[in-house]
Amino acid sequence: MEIAGVDVKDLKNEYGTPLYIYDVNHIKNIMSLYKNNFKSEMFETEIEYASKAFNCKEMIRVVKEMGLSLDVVSLGEMYTAIKAGFDPKHIFFHGNNKSLEEINYALDNNIGTVVVDNLDELKVLEEVSKSKNKVVNIVIRMNVGVSAHTHKFIVTAHVDSKFGVLYGSDDYKEMKKIIDNSKNIKFLGFHSHIGSQIFDLSAFNASIDKLFEMAKDFNYPLVMNIGGGYGVHYTNEDSPIPFDIVSKTLIKTAEDAVRRTGIKIKKLAIEPGRSIVGEAGYTLYTIGFTKKTPNKEYYFIDGGMTDNIRPALYQAKYDAEIIGKENEAHNHKVTIAGKCCESGDLIIEDINLPEAKSGDLLITYTTGAYGYSMSSNYNKALTPAVVFVEDGKSRIAIKRMTLDELIEREV
Ligand code: LLP
Repeated sequence: MEIAGVDVKDLKNEYGTPLYIYDVNHIKNIMSLYKNNFKSEMFETEIEYASKAFNCKEMIRVVKEMGLSLDVVSLGEMYTAIKAGFDPKHIFFHGNNKSLEEINYALDNNIGTVVVDNLDELKVLEEVSKSKNKVVNIVIRMNVGVSAHTHKFIVTAHVDSKFGVLYGSDDYKEMKKIIDNSKNIKFLGFHSHIGSQIFDLSAFNASIDKLFEMAKDFNYPLVMNIGGGYGVHYTNEDSPIPFDIVSKTLIKTAEDAVRRTGIKIKKLAIEPGRSIVGEAGYTLYTIGFTKKTPNKEYYFIDGGMTDNIRPALYQAKYDAEIIGKENEAHNHKVTIAGKCCESGDLIIEDINLPEAKSGDLLITYTTGAYGYSMSSNYNKALTPAVVFVEDGKSRIAIKRMTLDELIEREV
């Protein structure tokens, strides 16, 4: 099996396992699909990569090379982006509880736009920007009352979400007063994010409609950011909409809304994370022991919930293959379990695979989003290396953690 022209066995020999592998050709193709199709004659457009899905310096360099903007949600993500040489003008800083340290850092580094989540934050931001004699661009994250999850969406759900401001609420009215009067806050528009791994685009229509309703309060064209959440393929249960179609549909929905309402917008922005890196990522493991219980057969791998928490946390499903045995009969119904001291440390339950022996390599698909970024050192597992493959060559993006690094900060 090859990824971007590199034999997976060679990757194992050079970098060891467990190993996160990213197909950079695939990432760039997806970015191009978005860039080439998320365009309009009526308004400007912007694509921000939501870096919480996977953020490291080498990834940020790919985002920069491809000309996308960047969504960061913490001091750590922002710092990594700055250190990787990303232009701060194209950074969007999110978060529902930004610290003073983070706000100071954002302003001192001239971060392009702050996505303000609540009234308290706006007050602090206005004070800090005044004291620094700076003007800060903001968009306000709205709770548009649309909650989408996978195949379903609900309007008027989620009024108690920890994210965003409810339109028309007392907090909203007070925020409106601040932005109308502040010399240090430049209000650009609204933001909404309604969920993740969404397959039903009509949920986005609903949120676009809501944003247009809000835009009526302003007599100048606004920026509208409709967030991320475009679903990807993990197993054959998922049928994602191709990202060129996603892009075109969202553009058309916004263009229709402009025509229908007569409200002009300055820019439409999206913030995909999972869809950019998810399917480009693989995790390679070595199978150690296998075991049969009265009702189950286990293949044990050298990683687990420490490198992929999603099955344990969200009952997320994955697909896998044993390297070199792709064409053998898949006649063993097995459970892939990690090496953590935790019964829930299962990566895949009940998958049909060929017979495995110790030393075989197992690969799981679509682990590029929220895998490395949600990894942990539970049981003092060492964080695996991340390798990028592109045009038949591999390069290290993040080195494997060493035992010394594991205890480096311990006194
Ligand atoms: N924008 C905002 C404001 C967000 O909160 C998120 C994700 C995104 C963009 C990107 O969404 P995406 O395109 O990646 O779906 N840990 C969970 C996913 C949490 C998503 C949080 N917000 C998981 O592993 O499924």
